Amino acid sequence: MLASSSSLSSLVTDVTVPIVQLNGERMADDNSAVLSVSGLRKSFGQRHVLRDVHFAGHRGEALALIGANGCGKSTLLRSLVRLVEPDAGAIHAMGKAVLSLNSSDLKNYRSRVGFVFQKHNLVGRLSVLTNVIHGVQGRASGMRTWCHAFAKKEWREEAMQCLAAVGLADRALQRADSLSGGQSQRVAIARMLMQRPELVLADEPDASLDPKAGEEVMGLLYSLSRDKGLTLIMISHRVEHTIRFSDRIIGLANGVVEFDCRSKDMEPQNLLSFFKGEAALV
Ligand SMILES: Nc1ncnc2c1ncn2[C@@H]1O[C@H](COP(=O)(O)OP(=O)(O)OP(=O)(O)O)[C@@H](O)[C@H]1O
Ligand SMILES: [Mg+2]
Repeated sequence: MLASSSSLSSLVTDVTVPIVQLNGERMADDNSAVLSVSGLRKSFGQRHVLRDVHFAGHRGEALALIGANGCGKSTLLRSLVRLVEPDAGAIHAMGKAVLSLNSSDLKNYRSRVGFVFQKHNLVGRLSVLTNVIHGVQGRASGMRTWCHAFAKKEWREEAMQCLAAVGLADRALQRADSLSGGQSQRVAIARMLMQRPELVLADEPDASLDPKAGEEVMGLLYSLSRDKGLTLIMISHRVEHTIRFSDRIIGLANGVVEFDCRSKDMEPQNLLSFFKGEAALV
């Protein structure tokens, strides 16, 4: 029999304290909130997608956001950078009250948030290195940001380091459209690293990849969050990725956070029920 959402919550350890990496372990730390969301609401017409969402994310912490199709996960991620404008609530991120930012401060804030989508949006006819250098455009402009041949030496070097971080330094001068899906997604991650983000939002980065490439991409994002102290919020519909590549799992249903627990305390079967939207029905 399936667990109800409330009994599901009781099956996992209720952990709402912040967690950060320390000596390889992620430890509680009250002063490390990079992101906090409270009372967030968003409706589309009569459809109340986010009703009252609360959660916090901390430096070096990887959060998995889960829930059934259409429950509002992407809406929530997009709200964090106001690609969707919330109706009410508060978002504090990297010291900013995000919902009060004017347009120039919002642009600056967005440049510190890295996005990884299912679709990587590389420019296929350009080199891998040029695509990664495009990541500098959040903090610089002009034709030197357009192409690796014009780019400043320090940008080229940084872009090569970003490519090395995703294991593709040897592909720098290859055309982006000659890469596999998994390699393309890794280049998109390198481009995102070039932004020097503090917060990374990844909306189903594994969705269109085969199992091996999907696992590599999720593992890469998870290890980058640890190694670089990034706060990662990712969405995946794969149970094993959700548990393995996150520190905490936040379950969204009926417009609210139904549970917030340590990933290592989550039973795959319970998570599967929740994914299917079955748990909330019983
Ligand atoms: N711009 C929009 N206008 C109207 N309705 C929208 C808009 N964006 C999202 N919705 C609706 O809001 C609900 C939540 O959508 P959202 O994409 O956030 O769900 P999701 O949890 O990411 O789903 P999935 O797992 O399928 O990606 C859906 O019913 C969707 O149709
Ligand atoms: Mg979605």
